[in-house]
Amino acid sequence: MERTFTMLRGKEIIVGITGGIAAYKTAELVRELTKRGASVHVVMTKNAMEFVTPLTFQTLSGHPVIHEMFELFAGSKIGHIALSDIADQMVIVPATANIIGKIANGIADDFLTTMVMAITVPVLFVPSMNTKMWESKIVQMNINKLKDAGFDFLEPIEGDLACGTVGKGRLPPVEDILEKMEDIFTDKDLEGETILITAGPTLEFIDPVRCITNRSSGKMGYALAKIARRRGANVILISGPTHLKPPKRDIKFVEVTTAREMRDAVMELYSESTVIIKTAAVADFRCKSENCQKIKKKNDESVPTIELEKNPDIIAELGKVKGNRLLIGFAAETENLLDNAAEKLKRKNLDMIVANDVSKKEIGFSSDNNEVTLIDRSGKTKHIPFMSKEGVAHLILDAVKKLIKKRKLKEEDWY
Ligand code: C5P
Repeated sequence: MERTFTMLRGKEIIVGITGGIAAYKTAELVRELTKRGASVHVVMTKNAMEFVTPLTFQTLSGHPVIHEMFELFAGSKIGHIALSDIADQMVIVPATANIIGKIANGIADDFLTTMVMAITVPVLFVPSMNTKMWESKIVQMNINKLKDAGFDFLEPIEGDLACGTVGKGRLPPVEDILEKMEDIFTDKDLEGETILITAGPTLEFIDPVRCITNRSSGKMGYALAKIARRRGANVILISGPTHLKPPKRDIKFVEVTTAREMRDAVMELYSESTVIIKTAAVADFRCKSENCQKIKKKNDESVPTIELEKNPDIIAELGKVKGNRLLIGFAAETENLLDNAAEKLKRKNLDMIVANDVSKKEIGFSSDNNEVTLIDRSGKTKHIPFMSKEGVAHLILDAVKKLIKKRKLKEEDWY
């Protein structure tokens, strides 16, 4: 069975809604939170109810919506227990200039503001407002005050605004809000590490139209980059051509096309890293001579011959210069999985190799799931059963964390 790794599963989440036009987008957030297994309690201000109705949120969350200061929670499972006591995290979406100002100045004149005064768990504000309001000194002063007091913020994005203007003030996409909430729940246990990850296929041109590539989707590498960043690492992602959305915030992203471009980018950046994970399926061969014009099909039965030459083996090159860095490779095999992977680990001087059997349809290329075996230098293996690529990424990074600890102990031996 697939096990998705979400820190939101089983959590009690309070969603505060205030009176902005983006309030309708909060419905999608509540739906996604419940889909991820969170228990959602919605609190609305009076102004919010001018834009959206409590019934929508009661239906989506499965819990009564609180909007009155002195409600008795009739019919609610939590009875009289204060919501703020059971919450694991609170998120205010959208957060208006008004709510930001009120909370920053200690005003508690309705249920939502009163609850925020009493809450001890993380509170995330997701503001959305007109650009001029967002840029106003007063709003920014209030935001800084709340940040200083330990509140989290996810800034609005630029774009078309409901008031007919264009600028900063739009609510970020729901997936960004969810990512920030996951991030708040995640231990920053990889802080201080810089992890360089390569992902996707590379592409070698035969002529301006045709190319040699492979079926790698890049999903495993992108999942590793996302989870490593969530766990506090600095991340550099060097990616061949994929159909995936480039990572958004806080990841250094370098796009390349050919194996030689990937090699150059890796060689330029690897010295900044402490850990290198090479998930990329680098094309082993390229055309010996690149045709500047499209190769023409002849009117007879003849077919062109394409002469190939070897591409640089990036990971083998890294194996020679890596120093104290941890070097982790992937071995996509269709037969003799573990033997071939273990041989590669030795030959390329890796610290760990992730072996996956790409002959299985339900895992590997293009799939959202994977099943792999980790092998370290001592020959120790760890099987990671079928699960989401994000889940696999977590477990690979757990193993990397153990190797980092071992490396630190070794370094201490020198003193
Ligand atoms: O030998 P093989 O290509 O199967 O090894 C796979 C590992 O080597 C992967 O980690 C892949 O990213 C890396 N590799 C590389 N440069 C190549 C071929 C593979 O870095 N030219």
